[in-house]
Amino acid sequence: MHAMLNIAVRAARVAGNIIAQGFEHRDDLMTESKSENDYVTRVDKEAEQAIINKIQQSYPDHSFVGEEGGVIEGDDDFKWIIDPLDGTTNFVRGVPHFAVSIALMHKGRLDQGVVFDPIRNELFTASRGASAQLNGYRIRCSNAKELRGSLLATAFPFKNKEQELAESLQLFSKVYPQCGDIRRSGSAALDMAYVAAGRLDGYWEKGLKPWDMAAGALLIQEAGGLVTDFKGGHEPMKTGSLVCGSTKLVPALLKTFKQ
Ligand code: IPD
Ligand code: CA
Ligand code: CA
Ligand code: CA
Repeated sequence: MHAMLNIAVRAARVAGNIIAQGFEHRDDLMTESKSENDYVTRVDKEAEQAIINKIQQSYPDHSFVGEEGGVIEGDDDFKWIIDPLDGTTNFVRGVPHFAVSIALMHKGRLDQGVVFDPIRNELFTASRGASAQLNGYRIRCSNAKELRGSLLATAFPFKNKEQELAESLQLFSKVYPQCGDIRRSGSAALDMAYVAAGRLDGYWEKGLKPWDMAAGALLIQEAGGLVTDFKGGHEPMKTGSLVCGSTKLVPALLKTFKQ
């Protein structure tokens, strides 16, 4: 395993322990609202700090972007992008579906990625050019070729409902009649890891942040899938608009959105 991926895995496991313990003792989460329907807990913050500490032990000069801590300036050639707890609403409500997401960008390109589900002990990893794995076994995106029969995931805008709900429902109603079924899991990182593992054929969401999708994007690319924005371009991290899935399904989804 690549040395930097190894550090990311260790950091994800440390965070995973904090999250799993926090999940067992949910009376002490100190939940705050960032805005309506958007929560952060003591555990999100502790997990993020633990990840940064662990990585800094090995790489004190690197730079960091974490959802809860913002930015740590450093060597910009090595930028860690961290979502310490993706799926906070599930976590707070006792739904056991959430993950740690850690990615490393090297000179602006995704280089290493980890998504770790501490409840199921599922560790999804990818290094650029070296495939994607689940608990050490190679994973691949599905070979779904068309929407018919496909299992997809998406999400609805829970923060800015007024502005974005209509568009979101419109996209849903274009795709839903044509596909097999659609899930809304509450964890973008796991949605993407599941696409990489072929459990889902595709996934789309608007309004994501880089930490929601960085590790997942590398997983899907290394699992032979496609990760694009809504124009079919390479800017999902910049635009926050993501369409991903098997190589044939993504063009089919993009076409359906336009109809
Ligand atoms: C959220 C989850 C959710 C997605 C949201 C994200 P958080 O991340 O990934 O599934 O629909 O867009 O913000 O806040 O739980 O880390
Ligand atoms: Ca959040
Ligand atoms: Ca997230
Ligand atoms: Ca989060």
